[in-house]
Amino acid sequence: MKSQDIRKAYLQFFESKGHLIVPSAPIVLKDDPTLMFNNSGMAQFKEYFLGNATPKSNRITDTQKCLRVSGKHNDLEDVGFDTYHHTMFEMLGNWSFGDYFKKEALPWAWEFLTEVLKLEKDRLYVSVFEGNEAENVPFDQDAFDIWKQFVPEDRIILGNKKDNFWEMGDQGPCGPCSEIHIDLRTDAERAAVSGFSLVNADHPQVVEIWNNVFMEFNRKADGSLEKLPAQHVDTGMGFERLCMAMQGVTSNYDTDVFTPLIAKVEEITGFKYTTNEIKDVSEEQNKTNIAIRVVIDHVRAVAFAIADGQLPSNTGAGYVIRRILRRAIRYGFTFLNTKEAFIYELVGV
Ligand code: ALA
Repeated sequence: MKSQDIRKAYLQFFESKGHLIVPSAPIVLKDDPTLMFNNSGMAQFKEYFLGNATPKSNRITDTQKCLRVSGKHNDLEDVGFDTYHHTMFEMLGNWSFGDYFKKEALPWAWEFLTEVLKLEKDRLYVSVFEGNEAENVPFDQDAFDIWKQFVPEDRIILGNKKDNFWEMGDQGPCGPCSEIHIDLRTDAERAAVSGFSLVNADHPQVVEIWNNVFMEFNRKADGSLEKLPAQHVDTGMGFERLCMAMQGVTSNYDTDVFTPLIAKVEEITGFKYTTNEIKDVSEEQNKTNIAIRVVIDHVRAVAFAIADGQLPSNTGAGYVIRRILRRAIRYGFTFLNTKEAFIYELVGV
């Protein structure tokens, strides 16, 4: 499936489950002092979780432009060096505002991945929150029992607060979560080392694709957890990673989300990119590959941020955008021999 069709399939699936499809919010946030950029699909819905506003529908789905380059969620230094993190990425999400909860959300996630997209079940692992005494939040028995109907117990991982308790920032709505991970290694690799041991271990082909958060708390400024007035569902699936899984490749950059940008950089610079399938590349080629990934990742972040109203500048959110743009220019200058301005030529693509 092409990336466009994967995105459409997701939105249509949740529309068929009674969700209203809404547009992505702008990537830049102007009315939340706790965040500079949208770092997840739920940020635009924060007031609904807190009970301060009422949504148009109590079931919503969308694909959100996200930027994880500042604050609690910051992936900037990994971008380009690995094949599955981005500054800007799209997060497919479905939300329940005081409506359905775990026993609908988890089976739907499974149905979408295994029946609609037909991803192989034996490549999937799921995780549930093991509980945390200090926070007074128990083991998520409900999620565990729901998963047991679909997944053998030896593919269910118990995760700690770091991996299985999701928070938008230092303050705000939060709750235990259940993640779905996919193992994209070859059959031989999977036979030699179990994927179970590689979940949450920074393996580039054993990656989280979807997080289902059960929003039940609000983290207050003093660090305490307060129960929310209602229970909600907040999910987020990494679109580019899902495309990697669906397109049979082992790098987000080898999907059709990025290959047109790679072709354009190759055309402008004369340097060639090698896909992730080609192993044992020279040190020189590896540097070229990293630089191309940096440039094509960063141009997306900068172009969308500017289009959504955040120009590069020398303070605050504008400075973050300027740093991303500068990092792209620097990698181009140093490793792709671009001595003239060229990033702008990628914007159209
Ligand atoms: N808000 C959750 C996340 O970003 C779904 O992972």
